[in-house]
Amino acid sequence: MTTTSPLSEELKLRSGSVLKNRICKSAMNEAIATGKGGVVRQFEVLYRTWAEGGSGLLITGNIMVDKRHANEPLAVAVEDYDDFQLLELWVAGAKSKGGQIWAQLNHPGKQSPKFLNDQPLAPSAIPLASDMFIPPRELTESEISDIIRRFTTTALILKEAGFDGVQLHGAHGYLISQFLSPNHNKRNDQWGGSLENRMRFVKEIYASIREKVGEGFAIGIKLNSSDFQKGGFSQEESIEVCRHLDKMGIDLIEVSGGSWENPVNRRGEQKESTKKREAYFLEFSEQLKKNVSAPIMVTGGFRSQQAMEEAINSGSVDVVGLARPFVVDPNLANHLLTGTNYRSSVEPISTGIKKIDDMAIMEISWYTDQIRRMSEGLPPKTRVRGAFSAFKVLYNFWQRGQQVKRVRA
Ligand SMILES: Cc1cc2nc3c(=O)[nH]c(=O)nc-3n(C[C@H](O)[C@H](O)[C@H](O)COP(=O)(O)O)c2cc1C
Repeated sequence: MTTTSPLSEELKLRSGSVLKNRICKSAMNEAIATGKGGVVRQFEVLYRTWAEGGSGLLITGNIMVDKRHANEPLAVAVEDYDDFQLLELWVAGAKSKGGQIWAQLNHPGKQSPKFLNDQPLAPSAIPLASDMFIPPRELTESEISDIIRRFTTTALILKEAGFDGVQLHGAHGYLISQFLSPNHNKRNDQWGGSLENRMRFVKEIYASIREKVGEGFAIGIKLNSSDFQKGGFSQEESIEVCRHLDKMGIDLIEVSGGSWENPVNRRGEQKESTKKREAYFLEFSEQLKKNVSAPIMVTGGFRSQQAMEEAINSGSVDVVGLARPFVVDPNLANHLLTGTNYRSSVEPISTGIKKIDDMAIMEISWYTDQIRRMSEGLPPKTRVRGAFSAFKVLYNFWQRGQQVKRVRA
């Protein structure tokens, strides 16, 4: 008797389209755009590789809605039709095997490093606890309206280029999450104070995009389960925001966590129950499921087919999100869909030097290097480890910073 994996079941979305299975490649900044955020041909190669890997949904790395505000060097920015043909090519690669592609939309707010941005903006003029970032200026009401318009324009251009949906980046401490957080949003106007006011920004972005793109196009959100900071955005508030977006018709809620100030669960302590079930945010998704009817995706920590299938079978997770495992193995979804006890071989990237290993940037850069290889048609080098890779990624990061500086000069 053959049993079918629950991961291979289709999922009909509210906006009408169907995901061919329950596996999603979560957003990873590809860091292969031009210094000005321009799209390059290599996106087509990269996303064709991932499409051939069999996943139902590919979410792009975060795409900036304003070229002046980037979270990392060489992230894509889309605010006009300049790269339209390259966007169409990207879509063609991504959809070549019947899966969907959604674009993740982001504005970094104050989480935009000083080598990229000397005038960062935020809901309130509260600096981040890192000298990597210049203290931000408080946004005016007309600037807030402008950013909402930018999210909408970018979504519309991407829809026209053939993307199946967009995902709002409401997690990891960027602008949407800065608005949601009582620690980072101390405004006294309609955009701050009560939760109702703090969530106005994300709700208006959703409503404005929906009005322009119509019903057949998916809109999702990636949201922190909480920001894990005293007096910060709590789990109860996160559930309340999801309830509002659910009522408005959101297609998919991806649960995540962490920010620059607090990179949750990268290497931290984990409860025994979390270790067993692998994914960090399953307990939260169980709570969330009781409060919303929109499908829920959980990302972060999944490694074994068994844990992913158990999560889907539990009924509290509709889509399994995976990021690093898709770099180590671009064919991951096919392995999960046809295997019996598949396990991703993702391991912590280690140099043996704790101080370096603890830097989130070190791990991100290692994965970014592998993504670059894939975009050039090469397989990821899964065995690169140790001090050499640390030196290489830190050198690359410095080099990318110089490239961006040259463009801005
Ligand atoms: C190289 C790299 C780049 C990332 N870029 C993004 C991003 O652009 N947007 C986002 O929401 N998350 C980003 N993430 C976080 C992942 O989407 C995911 O939430 C995190 O890696 C945990 O999932 P995993 O355990 O399956 O890797 C990135 C992660 C990595 C490793």
